[in-house]
Amino acid sequence: MTTVVAGANGLVGSRIVARLLEAGEGVLASGRGPRRFDAGAAYVEVDLSVEPEKLARLIESAQPDGVINAAAMTDVDGCEKSPREAWALNVRAVEVAALACARTGARLTAVSTDYVFDGVKGSYTEDDPPNPRGVYARTKRSGEEAALILAADVAVCRVAVVYSGRPGAKKTFAATALESLRAGKPVKAFTDQVVSPTLADNAAEMVIGVHRSGAQGLFHCAGATEISRLDFCRALAGKLRADESLIVPVRVADLKLPAPRPLRCGLRVDKVRRLLGESVPLPIDAALDRFLAESRT
Ligand SMILES: NC(=O)c1ccc[n+]([C@@H]2O[C@H](COP(=O)([O-])OP(=O)(O)OC[C@H]3O[C@@H](n4cnc5c(N)ncnc54)[C@H](OP(=O)(O)O)[C@@H]3O)[C@@H](O)[C@H]2O)c1
Repeated sequence: MTTVVAGANGLVGSRIVARLLEAGEGVLASGRGPRRFDAGAAYVEVDLSVEPEKLARLIESAQPDGVINAAAMTDVDGCEKSPREAWALNVRAVEVAALACARTGARLTAVSTDYVFDGVKGSYTEDDPPNPRGVYARTKRSGEEAALILAADVAVCRVAVVYSGRPGAKKTFAATALESLRAGKPVKAFTDQVVSPTLADNAAEMVIGVHRSGAQGLFHCAGATEISRLDFCRALAGKLRADESLIVPVRVADLKLPAPRPLRCGLRVDKVRRLLGESVPLPIDAALDRFLAESRT
C-alpha cells in the first residue's frame, strides 16, 4: 500500500504519516517548506497556494493506492483576511487532488471540520445539513463538495478542535492551557462553546481507519465527548491537580473575533464507532491521559 499524505507537517498529517509508517505502509508525504516531522517518509515540498498542480503530478507519477489530504488553511481568522488563499487551500487544492485521484483510480480521504455547521443545534450527525458561516467554514464545506463530487472513491472525515501534546507540535488551545496551568498562570476558556476536542493522534487513527475501510461519504472522526471549553480546562486542571481558579470563564462574544465561531458544534461519532469499533473515538478522560503522556515525552 502506498499513500500520498498532503499536509504532512501538520498536527493531524504528521500523525497520519507516523501511523502509516508504523504499519509498514509506503508513504509519500508532502508539505509546505522543509519537512518538520520525525518519521522517515519520502517527502516533497509543495506550496498548494502557489502550485497545486504539483500535487496532481505527484499523485500521477506515484500512482498511489490512496491520497489523504490533511493540508488546509486552518487559521480561522486569517481566512477572513485572506479569502483567496483560503479558497486556494481549502477548495482548489482539494479539487486538484480529487481530479488526480479520479484519473489514477486512487482513493481520496479529505479531512474537514465541525465548522461546516452553524452551531445552533449541536450534537451533529453526518446527516445534518451543513450551514457554514465565515470564510474558513464556507471554504472547508466547498472542499468537502469538491472531494465528494469529483473523486470516484472518497471519504470526508470531519475532525474538531485538534490538540497534541507532542514536542514541537503546533500550539493549540489545549497546549496553551496545559502550559499555563502547569506554570500557575491564568487561562481564558469559553463557557458558551461546546465542542468535540480531538487528540491529533486519535484523529489520525480514525482517518486512517476510514480510509482503509473503503467506506464512502462523510464521517465524524472526533473525540467522543462533547464538552465546553471551560469544562475541558477543568478536566485538564483535575488531571494536573492544578488550581481551577486559574481558569477564567469568558464568552465567545467577549473576544470580538473576526470570524464567527459556532457555539454548539459537538459531533456525534456513532457512525465511526460502528465502522471502526466502540472504543476508537476516545472519551475525554482517556484522551487527556494520552495528551499528558505525549507532553512528557
Ligand atoms: N486544528 C484544528 O483545530 C482543526 C479543527 C477542525 C478541523 N481541522 C481540519 O483538520 C485538518 C488538518 O489540520 P491540522 O489540525 O493538522 O492543522 P495544521 O497543523 O494547521 O495543518 C494544516 C497543514 O496544512 C499546511 N498548509 C497550509 N498552507 C499550505 C500551503 N500553502 N501549501 C501546503 N501546505 C499548506 C500547513 O503547513 P504549515 O505547517 O507550513 O503551516 C499544515 O501543515 C484540516 O483539514 C483542518 O481544516 C482542524
